[in-house]
Amino acid sequence: MSTASSPIPVITIDGPSASGKGTVAERVAAALGFHFLDSGALYRLTALSAMKHGVALDDEAGVAALAARLPATFRGGSVWLENENVTDAIRAETVGEGASKVAALPAVRAALLDRQRAYCQLPGLVADGRDMGTVVFAGAVAKVFLTASAEARAGRRYKQLIEKGNSASLTALVADMQARDARDSARTVAPLKPAPDALLLDTTHMDIESAVQAVLAHYHSKQ
Ligand code: DC
Repeated sequence: MSTASSPIPVITIDGPSASGKGTVAERVAAALGFHFLDSGALYRLTALSAMKHGVALDDEAGVAALAARLPATFRGGSVWLENENVTDAIRAETVGEGASKVAALPAVRAALLDRQRAYCQLPGLVADGRDMGTVVFAGAVAKVFLTASAEARAGRRYKQLIEKGNSASLTALVADMQARDARDSARTVAPLKPAPDALLLDTTHMDIESAVQAVLAHYHSKQ
């Protein structure tokens, strides 16, 4: 964070699922040579770990204990949990659903806080999530809130699933998207909402490259 106490620049990109923020954040990080934090992956790993260990997703203390000692590593483009390659497994809709449930538990969010902040290293960080600009990196130099209509986001997810050879229902995806948005926005801890000082970027009619350029321009305007 670019403050007197810490010279490390942080760019936060928050928004609902399938808004394109993951791709945008990764490209912005690559353009600047910054580190990249996919905080949603940590919630997905926590949910997957709970499922594997038979811990109920509403068992706050049990799930928080797993989150606090999450044996997960990121190597190159892949994600490992207890020596198992879970890169694809954490992207499953069931795991995303589980992640949204465990993310509503305050003790789980607290257990993941230090791990997320440890990513703040020179030359800088681009952090992707729901509460990066409001909670985890509230002092970030540049904050962006990326949105798109539920229909546009469901359409993008549909395309991804079909391209991977999965079957999918667009109507069901729109409904899932709306249910997850409602849960992520209504929870009492760190709900999905723009930081007061965030740039709002609606990508419903915008391609990825234009969104990347808009984020970079916003960051440079803050320097
Ligand atoms: O971005 P994603 O779809 O991988 O996130 C999965 C879930 O994790 C999502 O439903 C909300 C939750 N999440 C969160 O609560 N806070 C974050 N910083 C990132 C994700």
